[in-house]
Amino acid sequence: MAKITKLQHSEWSSRFAFILAATGSAVGLGNIWKFPYIAGENGGGAFVLVYLLCVAIIGIPIMIAETMLGRRGRQSPINTMSTLADEAKAHKNWHYVGWMGIIAGFLILSYYSVIAGWVLSYIFKAFMGSFSGGNVETIGALFTELMASPLQQIVWHTVFLGATLLIVARGVQGGLEKSVRFLMPTLFVLLILLVGYAMTTGYYQQGFDFLFKPDFNQINSDVILVAMGHAFFTLGLGMGAIMVYGSYLPKNISIAKTTLIVAGADTIIALLAGLAIFPLVFANGLETVAGPGLIFQTLPLAFGNMMGGWLFGLLFFILLFFAALSSSISLIEPAIAFLIENKNINRTKACIITGLMIWVLGVIVALSFNVWSDVSLFGKGIFDLVDYLTVNLMLPIGGLCIAIFAGWIMKAKDSEHELEMEKPQFYQLWKVLISYVAPFALIIVLLKGIGVIG
Ligand code: PHE
Repeated sequence: MAKITKLQHSEWSSRFAFILAATGSAVGLGNIWKFPYIAGENGGGAFVLVYLLCVAIIGIPIMIAETMLGRRGRQSPINTMSTLADEAKAHKNWHYVGWMGIIAGFLILSYYSVIAGWVLSYIFKAFMGSFSGGNVETIGALFTELMASPLQQIVWHTVFLGATLLIVARGVQGGLEKSVRFLMPTLFVLLILLVGYAMTTGYYQQGFDFLFKPDFNQINSDVILVAMGHAFFTLGLGMGAIMVYGSYLPKNISIAKTTLIVAGADTIIALLAGLAIFPLVFANGLETVAGPGLIFQTLPLAFGNMMGGWLFGLLFFILLFFAALSSSISLIEPAIAFLIENKNINRTKACIITGLMIWVLGVIVALSFNVWSDVSLFGKGIFDLVDYLTVNLMLPIGGLCIAIFAGWIMKAKDSEHELEMEKPQFYQLWKVLISYVAPFALIIVLLKGIGVIG
């Protein structure tokens, strides 16, 4: 008999509340900061196409699976996986999927918090009017100056991480529901307005073509690995975040429909960010391969030169901060839920312990942009290495385990019952995707990406 640990947490108040929280987890720096710069680095259209394919045939089925496992297990990812493994009479070792997720969440949050710190410093710059009348040189100098300062980055990283922990210490639901409800629509409107501004630059078409006209010569196994990793990162999959959120989900809610809404919103926000940014890149003669600084070097140019740009820029970076916050909460929640359940630690203490560890790692990442910028391992700097290991390897491997568990280990009658799809064909489609298509694609891309097969 499976040992079911007592449910430690309450449930979402409604389906809408879950959609908000899951969207809050999905939409974040991944959409607005990361998507444009990695699309730029990996050749644009072809990358975007692979990313969209990965979302559709790997990301969405795994998101459904991960949410379903969470709801059925109703605990932290580690305990959920061992409960469900018991139930399916499978090996206990499945709980290591939960462990890997917690470690990935930790590592991702350590750099996520540093980048969110950059966003905070840009709120401050926007408020001070630093973008006003800016050109490529002055706006570029603002970013260079921030990169060169370990102190500034560490201070803002500390503020961001502190804000995350304060919210998590008070329990995830209440505040999150309220803030995301306001945040997402406003962010959406601002992005539309920014795309509108991009249309006035005369370079809109060029930006559009860069994103949507694939040049297939640009595709190689590395590009595919990055695109697939990003599909996991941007949807918040493979590390237990959506599993924990699923564990707060009431039984009578349709997981598949909810997932489609969240994945759709996430994708649209990323594409809008791309459409706002690339016309600016071309209009100002900037490089598409600018790297992690891309949005910080482009968007302030728009804010500095448009009507009402002061307010607009301020609002934009504030919203981006909240979007990052609602994601960072979900990055740390699996670890917190585990400490509370298994180590008998209260929420506040759990937050302090995990917070301190992540803070130290974050300081190392912040230093990798300046003092330690020439430290490299396996040909990558510290930030790139952490990003590569977590996003391109750990999340897809976590996703692969989730797919295999949901498709092969869990009894079909259980998953069918749990998902309760409207039509049997929908369930069949999901089952084929999760059992065959997603694992096969994941294995090939992972093996090719790390060079095990040619
Ligand atoms: N999806 C978030 C973003 O795009 C990041 C994230 C990754 C959140 C993994 C949870 C889990 O910014």
